[in-house]
Amino acid sequence: MKGVFITGTDTGVGKTVVAAGIAASLKARGIRVGVLKPVATGGREDAELLRRASGAEDDPAMINPVFLRHALAPSVAAELEGIEVDVGRIRRTAQTLSERHDLLVVEGVGGLLVPIRDGFFVADLALTLELPLLIVARRRLGAINHTLMTIECAKARGIAVAGVVYNDVNWTEKGTSEQTNPEVIERLSDVPCLGIVPFAEGLDFTHAGPEDFIQRVAAHIQMDRLLGIIS
Ligand SMILES: Nc1ncnc2c1ncn2[C@@H]1O[C@H](COP(=O)(O)OP(=O)(O)OP(=O)(O)O)[C@@H](O)[C@H]1O
Ligand SMILES: [Mg+2]
Repeated sequence: MKGVFITGTDTGVGKTVVAAGIAASLKARGIRVGVLKPVATGGREDAELLRRASGAEDDPAMINPVFLRHALAPSVAAELEGIEVDVGRIRRTAQTLSERHDLLVVEGVGGLLVPIRDGFFVADLALTLELPLLIVARRRLGAINHTLMTIECAKARGIAVAGVVYNDVNWTEKGTSEQTNPEVIERLSDVPCLGIVPFAEGLDFTHAGPEDFIQRVAAHIQMDRLLGIIS
């Protein structure tokens, strides 16, 4: 399987936005790109946005094979809803999508140690799919800790890490933490910074199209370098 598994240091860091930017940019390069949101909780907007950005024509039920109504960690939501999350189904769906496309852009759920079912975490899913990780992180005080913990967790489990993309979810004054985070984290972890996506004022995620994601997100990511690592 070829592609990238996009995870974050936390929920709400911009995994979907970065995944949409990457998918739209790959598609614009003539690459047949598939998208997968293996597990969604609370809503299916992420999968819909990824479908729109990538132009993938796969069935929405394949793009998001597991949906849980409660906006909770998947194992907790599944227990509440009396559902057993079928990891085998996710794996088979990913396999089918990867046979249909040149590259797969997969968005995880939350961060690496979010439980999908008892004893099976997002990190295990990334490992099962044999895809390198791209970590989306914030630039702010605390980012060194969150990002290095995510990298250590991946390395301890034998998951390859392609790089880190920083995403400014909010507009903030850029102090010393913001300015130094990427360089410090790269030095301490040996994982490259592959981009810094600035706050995209007024970008309406329910209406934005592929061009918006290319210009406002992917333009700030080192796409050639990323492609070299993942393909
Ligand atoms: N660069 C950006 N500029 C402006 N707004 C952004 C940017 N990145 C993310 N956002 C906003 O922050 C919110 C969270 O981003 P996003 O949904 O991509 O995060 P996520 O990590 O995928 O979250 P989840 O864990 O829920 O899947 C989005 O609704 C979006 O409006
Ligand atoms: Mg998301």
